[in-house]
Amino acid sequence: MKQARAASKAAAGARGWPGPGGGEVGHLDPPTMWRATTVQACGLWPFAAGSGSPMTGVPLGQHLDTGATVCGDPISWFTRARYISNPSLFMLGMPGLGKSTLVNRMLIGLSATGVVPLVLGDLKPDYADTVRALGGQVISIGRGVGGINVLDPGAMGAAAARIGGEAGRALAAETHGRVLNMVAALISVVRSRPMDDHEQSVLSAALHHLRERTPAGRAPLLPDLLAVLHEGPDRVRAVTLDRGDDTRYREAVDPLHRSLLGILDGPLGDTFASETSTRIDPSAPAVCIDISRIGEADTQLTAAAMLAAWSDGLGTVAASHALADAGLIPRRWFFAVLDELWRPLRAASGIVDRIDALTRLNRSLGLGDAKITHTLKDAEALGSESDRAKARGFVERAGMVVCAGLPRTEMEELGRVVGLSAREIDLVSSWSSPPGWAVSGLQEEPPGRGRFLIKVGGRPGIPIKVAITDTERELHDTNSRWLAGAPEPRAAMGGWEGAA
Ligand SMILES: Nc1ncnc2c1ncn2[C@@H]1O[C@H](COP(=O)(O)OP(=O)(O)O)[C@@H](O)[C@H]1O
Ligand SMILES: [Mg+2]
Repeated sequence: MKQARAASKAAAGARGWPGPGGGEVGHLDPPTMWRATTVQACGLWPFAAGSGSPMTGVPLGQHLDTGATVCGDPISWFTRARYISNPSLFMLGMPGLGKSTLVNRMLIGLSATGVVPLVLGDLKPDYADTVRALGGQVISIGRGVGGINVLDPGAMGAAAARIGGEAGRALAAETHGRVLNMVAALISVVRSRPMDDHEQSVLSAALHHLRERTPAGRAPLLPDLLAVLHEGPDRVRAVTLDRGDDTRYREAVDPLHRSLLGILDGPLGDTFASETSTRIDPSAPAVCIDISRIGEADTQLTAAAMLAAWSDGLGTVAASHALADAGLIPRRWFFAVLDELWRPLRAASGIVDRIDALTRLNRSLGLGDAKITHTLKDAEALGSESDRAKARGFVERAGMVVCAGLPRTEMEELGRVVGLSAREIDLVSSWSSPPGWAVSGLQEEPPGRGRFLIKVGGRPGIPIKVAITDTERELHDTNSRWLAGAPEPRAAMGGWEGAA
């Protein structure tokens, strides 16, 4: 007995001795547990609003109710967690609530896992500083700043030549489709309506002819395409059904000819009709195509530049994967950011088809994407019902939908597409309330800033709050132009007092 007591004394830790009177404490009380059937306890289910918190992916913020860390991004949720069946994110919300900031964070986090971020058309710029900080390439596009030759087969053309054989030919055919899509998009933008089917066949034949007669190592330019239409080689004539009659040929190609002239001599000319000024570096750790030098009011040029940037960027992705398939380079994954999606959508009816064609194949492309826009109304502004349905399809197909504050009517509309509970609608609409009338406007921020609801499939949404770090604030402060050089609030007040 004495011996046993001595042994237990030796074993005693900081939490006392075992046995009665020993003062022993357990360092964690086991929680009380109850068990009941769902019939008995249906009204007690405490987890109906919020589905726990996922821990795979980029750390995004804290759960609004539980304070738990929430992680996520479309690529990790598709590849590792398998929560979603399509690596794509659709984000909606009113301006200024922090959408671009959150996507910037995903970009930084994903880059750390080896994914290559591609910001294809940065309007503000929201991402250029981040991409620079990641050691990436920033390419400026705009009048007199830099251009993209839309006929340049780019990285895909080079990859097709390098791979050769059957796979090379398949890639070359895909390259042709991409160039054709891009020229058709430019024509839709200048016409403000979609292009006709027969014109597309003519354009396709002309592009084929042009590619065959352009010497290797040189990319054809838009004026060369115009020259082909002007000359009318047999291959192009055949698809116009001219039956040997030159007048019939001219009638068939004149509208196309005029639109191309409209591009060359119009506001899009300098940017798209000459050599690509800086090519995307296929081995860069991140790429940003900065189009912020294009004026806000220049809707056609903005839309066209965004589309050209997407086409060029996604072509680079396709080339990288084709080379990796052939075993020539290591496999890299990409994350494409298409911010301010409403700009090109608004520019012309029919553009939505072009965007659809550009972005449809993500899954097989090894490409995650984030599409960001304000509201579903952006799609409503489009001309035809089929355009609207396709634009809604972007949201339906997105694996992950993230909402920042939106007015109630728009949340109800969105609820019909992604399925939202009344509580979720209340919550997100409350984030769209305007800020109070604080005396010093500098400190007052909108109540919904940094708050998001993440929806995946039919699961309950995850409401989060994002707190940004000082580094993130410096990398992306869209208000900097307003704040720099603004008068001190005191001084301004003093001026008023003086006047009174
Ligand atoms: N979570 C946040 N906390 C504090 N400030 C933020 C947060 N998110 C964004 N901001 C600031 O709000 C401003 C607008 O953010 P931004 O991401 O450009 O909004 P959006 O893309 O929704 O229009 C920026 O100046 C940014 O620094
Ligand atoms: Mg933004």
